[in-house]
Amino acid sequence: MAIFKVSRISTKPYDGQKPGTSGLRKKVKVFAQPHYLENFVQSTFNALTAEKIKGKTLVVSGDGRYYSEEAIQIIIKMSAANGVKRVWVGQNTLLSTPAVSAVIRERVGKDGSKASGAFILTASHNPGGPTEDFGIKYNMENGGPAPEGVTDKIYENTTTIKEYLTAEDLPDVDISKIGTTSFSGGPDGEFEVEVFDSTDTYVKLMKSIFDFEAIKKLLACPKFSFCYDALHGVAGVYAKRIFVEELGANESSLLNCTPKKDFGGGHPDPNLTYAKELVQRMGLGKTDTEGEPPEFGAAADGDADRNMILGKRFFVTPSDSVAIIAANAVEAIPYFAGGLKGVARSMPTSAALDVVAKALNLKFFEVPTGWKFFGNLMDAGFCSVCGEESFGTGSDHVREKDGIWAVLAWLSILTLKNKDKLNGENLVTVEDIVRQHWATYGRHYYTRYDYENVDAGGAKELMAHLVNLQSDLSEVNKIVKGVNSTVANVKDADEFEYTDPVDGSVSKHQGIRYLFEDGSRLVFRLSGTGSEGATVRVYIEQYVNDSSKISRDSQEALKPLVDVALKLSKMQEFTGRSDPTVIT
Ligand code: G6P
Ligand code: ZN
Repeated sequence: MAIFKVSRISTKPYDGQKPGTSGLRKKVKVFAQPHYLENFVQSTFNALTAEKIKGKTLVVSGDGRYYSEEAIQIIIKMSAANGVKRVWVGQNTLLSTPAVSAVIRERVGKDGSKASGAFILTASHNPGGPTEDFGIKYNMENGGPAPEGVTDKIYENTTTIKEYLTAEDLPDVDISKIGTTSFSGGPDGEFEVEVFDSTDTYVKLMKSIFDFEAIKKLLACPKFSFCYDALHGVAGVYAKRIFVEELGANESSLLNCTPKKDFGGGHPDPNLTYAKELVQRMGLGKTDTEGEPPEFGAAADGDADRNMILGKRFFVTPSDSVAIIAANAVEAIPYFAGGLKGVARSMPTSAALDVVAKALNLKFFEVPTGWKFFGNLMDAGFCSVCGEESFGTGSDHVREKDGIWAVLAWLSILTLKNKDKLNGENLVTVEDIVRQHWATYGRHYYTRYDYENVDAGGAKELMAHLVNLQSDLSEVNKIVKGVNSTVANVKDADEFEYTDPVDGSVSKHQGIRYLFEDGSRLVFRLSGTGSEGATVRVYIEQYVNDSSKISRDSQEALKPLVDVALKLSKMQEFTGRSDPTVIT
């Protein structure tokens, strides 16, 4: 057993180490500065206090992006020196964000130990590589991201830090091999690092939620075909194990499922712009695909908490996806057989879920953007299924959104709808399911325009202008009618504010809303996740409940509202942009 000793290293604060709820995200070259990561990790230990650290078990892993290996060795050494008893690491540093949440909540060590928290090493859907982003966030014992009280404290600590503790002479641990390495001589006795299989705990959890045997039959049906694109993120590891090994899909169903430190040079964000190969294969590309596209396609982001769901030549909006999952969950997914506790969506997400909640008489919540708001509802037992327009869908099985879960949920719905069809007739397709849903509940046409990396000053002015305008609705309606006389009047306009029903905390300025008489909405927000300049997001939505009007092309149907949004916000004037960077 190797022996180690503790060193106190002097350091000075760095500016700008303020973590959002998605953690601290910066360029690799920023993280690689002397003591930069160490300052943040020590500030986190100090914020959590000794009670939550000494003698405890911590998980450290992530999406395997560039700088993860170096970061893990640094955090292991600092954990040892700070009195942590045990560090759990996914093999080769890999654990998806939802898998980390599952490991914290479910995994039991050999001696009955449970983890008390985790450092997740990821910058989610941001590109990776020496000139790209790295990130780190801390999750608590419930498996969810640290609440604002803790992240504020971490930040405060980073502004005054003078020293950190580390075990300099602790040898690097080989994280490519499963097994436990023990060290003695630490401040609190023995310290150990256990490297374990990245998928075991997560797969066991998925098997307790879904009917794998039934899904297997769907995948075995010759008329069904399937394609999954991990965009070279960590989802590939889970896709191989779950879709191929457990459910019997063909290896050729997997695209980009080998995790790469730089995501193959791509942007690991599952949307119609960045998941190019999948989009092409599903028949949604600019040119025709060779041969018939698969029946079902899906993609994940770098850390596998986001998802995109596609049918053959068909895109399912994330807002529709969560509504359809909620509408079918009780019948299709064994975990929900006893009923849903409630459902929730973020404010900019379309109201498709509201209509389902009303029809099924379910508790319903509209929260600000950010998964943490769902976590509170789930901990209190108010919410089973939730989702966001930003390609996040999930349930109370963990406290993060879950990309693979969303795919299994859709496969379960397809399995349910096709249970009598596997031997004969044509299968019910993804498109059939969505169209049937619209026919039952009405359709929410929906699109989002993103103006990425615009000048931060201009973006702020644009938002201030939109807030100002809200005080005079007759002026607003003059502008609306000037753009297009067929657009309904704005009946209400405000900034979204949320009072958490669990802890009573109030979140203000959570997005600017223009609400129209016919139920249409325009929402404007500044992104909270970009790493350069500002990103303006415009969310455009129109509800149609007349079955003769639910089959239009969404960009075409929404054109008048888009024109109104651009005019009201003076988009070009404030940002200098005539076109958005990404349309989803
Ligand atoms: C992260 C969070 C999501 C949130 C999204 C918003 O992915 O985990 O809960 O919806 O950021 O991103 P934005 O760039 O719109 O602030
Ligand atoms: Zn992510």
